[in-house]
Amino acid sequence: MAFENITVETRGNVGLIALNRPKAMNALCAALIAELGQALNAFEADDAVGAIVLTGSEKAFAAGADIKEMAERGYMDVYMSNFITNGWEAITKCRKPIIAAVSGFALGGGCEVAMMCDFILAGDNAKFGQPEITIGTIPGAGGTQRLTRAIGKAKAMEMCLTGRMMNAAEAECSGLVSRVVPVAELVDEAVKVAGKIASLSRPIVMLCKESVNAAFETGLAQGITFERRLFHSTFATLDQKEGMAAFVEKRAPVFQNK
Ligand code: CAA
Repeated sequence: MAFENITVETRGNVGLIALNRPKAMNALCAALIAELGQALNAFEADDAVGAIVLTGSEKAFAAGADIKEMAERGYMDVYMSNFITNGWEAITKCRKPIIAAVSGFALGGGCEVAMMCDFILAGDNAKFGQPEITIGTIPGAGGTQRLTRAIGKAKAMEMCLTGRMMNAAEAECSGLVSRVVPVAELVDEAVKVAGKIASLSRPIVMLCKESVNAAFETGLAQGITFERRLFHSTFATLDQKEGMAAFVEKRAPVFQNK
């Protein structure tokens, strides 16, 4: 597939997508979002790929939805075309884990795309923000919801109401990112982590992702029941038999994704 706004490669069993609109700070124009959706769907369908890394450039993960493309649009147009829905959904619908490797600016829709991924590894120069309020709108791709769940009301409200950016260190201690690494090592580290995930049992990884995500949609008792049922279901897999037998026999497991 030939893409104009992203680059796509595989490294071992990891799919690596880099947003690539350097002149526009990787602003998320419609063409970029469509390409991102196609690339994610292709990796989702590729049995050789077990996990995905989504990154940008050192300067910008993405500086948000494309303001120049959006500026003149009207209500009926954005409502009827379901703007910020089609294409963007591919990220949250993907069943394989996606790690966002964020360096530089992750603003507005850029921060929201990072938060749609399963977790964020940040380069030490990362800056997160929801500056929509400063251009007369509000976050529209989940920012008010996912940011609030990730870092709590006080910080999310301050960021959404003022547009203040959060640096990598603050993002780590607030729970927005799993870890901060030197920016020069970010993509390699993210690919290494994704490679670890991809080396594990594919169905068990997918069940685990489903179970963690259920924590955002359910009360505690319901979530724990859901987790328990998925846990029980892992005992119907060959990979559970193999994983536990390998532990007992002091050898590395060979998972069959079955
Ligand atoms: N849309 C379109 N173009 C953008 C853009 C965006 N979101 N962000 C940056 N660009 C463009 C600039 O217009 C500029 O293009 P020109 O060279 O043609 O003028 C180029 O990228 C470089 O940007 P700057 O000159 O501004 O670079 P800087 O280093 O001085 O500043 C920045 C970098 C702080 C990221 C600044 O560009 C900025 O504030 N960008 C906008 C951030 C923003 O408001 N994002 C929210 C968008 S709305 C949204 O995302 C809605 C939603 O919830 C989905």
